[in-house]
Parts: sequence; structure tokens; C-alpha cells
Amino acid sequence: MKVTVVGAGNVGATCADVIARKELCNELVLVDIKPNFAEGKALDIWQTSPINLSDTRLIGSTGDYSKTANSDVVVITSGLPRKPGMSRDDLISTNAAIVKSVTENIIQHSPNAIIIIVSNPLDVMTYCAYLTAKIDSSRVFGMAGILDTARYRAFLAEELNCSPKDIQAVLMGGHGDTMVPLPRYTTVGGIPVTELISKEKLDGIIDRTKKGGGEIVNLLGTSAWYAPGAAAAQMVEAIVRDQKRIFPVCALLKGEYGMKDIYLGVPVILGKNGIERIIELQLNAEEKKLLNDSAVAVKEVMTVLDTMKKNS
Ligand code: LAC
Repeated sequence: MKVTVVGAGNVGATCADVIARKELCNELVLVDIKPNFAEGKALDIWQTSPINLSDTRLIGSTGDYSKTANSDVVVITSGLPRKPGMSRDDLISTNAAIVKSVTENIIQHSPNAIIIIVSNPLDVMTYCAYLTAKIDSSRVFGMAGILDTARYRAFLAEELNCSPKDIQAVLMGGHGDTMVPLPRYTTVGGIPVTELISKEKLDGIIDRTKKGGGEIVNLLGTSAWYAPGAAAAQMVEAIVRDQKRIFPVCALLKGEYGMKDIYLGVPVILGKNGIERIIELQLNAEEKKLLNDSAVAVKEVMTVLDTMKKNS
């Protein structure tokens, strides 16, 4: 099994570190455009292998995609992160060009790879990679839902003073302030969360979840990496171990939830073939409205991308 992580910045390096610790593949290639950067990070992570007892071999490369040839799974984290005051959408022009060129290089050397996008603005960058890769959408999708759900679950665990392991939740929609956490599909040890927490408290947690990425940007001056990196690695694990796990993933909708030609976060089954099934929940009217509002916000950013393409 061979995995490539493109972008050796904070998110990419963290993702590679988690993949190596879990021994998800024999060969792990880290690529970056900054000279010697991926080589340095790969060497450092490789030197943890005797400590962490991992057999995963790391290879770093400055932009030489031939080293990534025949990867089974590729995680693309390339692009600029947010700075305070920026929305994820502010990154679109720079990151779209980067994601397009990285995807072209990846597909040229690994035509059968499954591609996971992590670059922001996530939903639109995933759509951009799909248009570029020209492969089935079951093999191109984005990481956002696991991260956003993890934030929601961590906040709930803190509030309820219980283990985050026991909190299960579904969160849908775009990776932005319009994301849709779903209390009706949130349980704590099998108990509906609404039986354990007041509406006011839950609304506060939902609001904090929606702004969870921004909270970290404000604290650190750049965007998060431990949780995003671990979340992307969890998707890699589901694929390489064919776990058939149910995760919220940014997937191309082809009529599901009454939508088409849009990448949006929905629950899916993830296994060796990538997205093996999109699960369609019976949303109530309020949930449907929130999901539609989120789709409108994502479509607006997609329009910016389409205009850019026409003008380029
Ligand atoms: C976040 C960035 C990675 O949500 O989008 O932290």
C-alpha cells in the first residue's frame, strides 16, 4: 500500500505522522514545492519509527511527482491557510490554481488513486480537483465533516463531562459557517443528546462548532492542524483497511438530497473503493432548509471559481 500526502505544511505533516504511527501503508511519500521541506519533514517522521514502532517508510520530495507513482491514496493539503480576519473563501483564487496543478500531477502518475482534498475553501477545492482529475466522484472527495464533527463532539464531551468516545454525531453541509450539525442525529452512549443538555447550551455548542476553525485561527494566527491532519488520516485508514466506516464526507451529489453538481458534506460509507454509498437521511423541514442554505453558500463560491475559469 502506498500513500502520498501533498503539502508538507502543518496539516500535511501531521497527517503523515498519524499515517506512519498507525502503519497505514508501507510507503508514504510527502511532497512540497518548498525546497527540501518535504525531505526534512519525512526524515524527521521516519526517525520516529524506531520509537513509535512503525514500519512505514517515508520519502520526501521537492515537487518530483514521479516519486508518487502508483499511489493507492493521495491526500492533497496544498494551499495557503487562513490568517485572522480571512474566511476560507478568501483563499479561492490562490488555492484553486494550486489544487488544479497538484491534481494534474497526481493523476498523471497515479491514475487509479483515491484522492482526498483538504485544501480550503474545501467544498469548492474538492469540486475543482474532481473537474481536473476526470475520474469517478467515488474516488475524489473532501475532508471536512470528520473535523467539524470532532469539534462538535469534543465540545459536547467537555460540557457533559463525559468521554468523547461515547459521542456519535452527524454533521452535514459545507465546511463553513453554514455547516449543519444535526442534534436529532447526535447521541451520547446511545442516549439522544437532547435528553442530556438544554436547548440553549446545545445551540451555543452548535454555534461554536460552526466557528470552530476561526476560533483556532484567532488563537494561533493560522489555521488548525492536529485535528485536520488526524481527520484526513482517519479517512485514509477507512480506505486502506476497507473499514466501511460511516463518516460525513464532502461528496459529489447526483440527485441525493435533491441536489446535483455540487460537492457537499453528507454521510457516506468509506471503504477500499472510496465512497461506496451516500447515505440519504430523512431530514425534517428545518434540517432541509439549513442544508439548502449551506448549498447556496457553497454554490456562491463555486460561481467565483467558474468565473475565474472563464476569464483564464
Ligand atoms: C479548519 C480549517 C482547516 O477548519 O479549515 O480548521
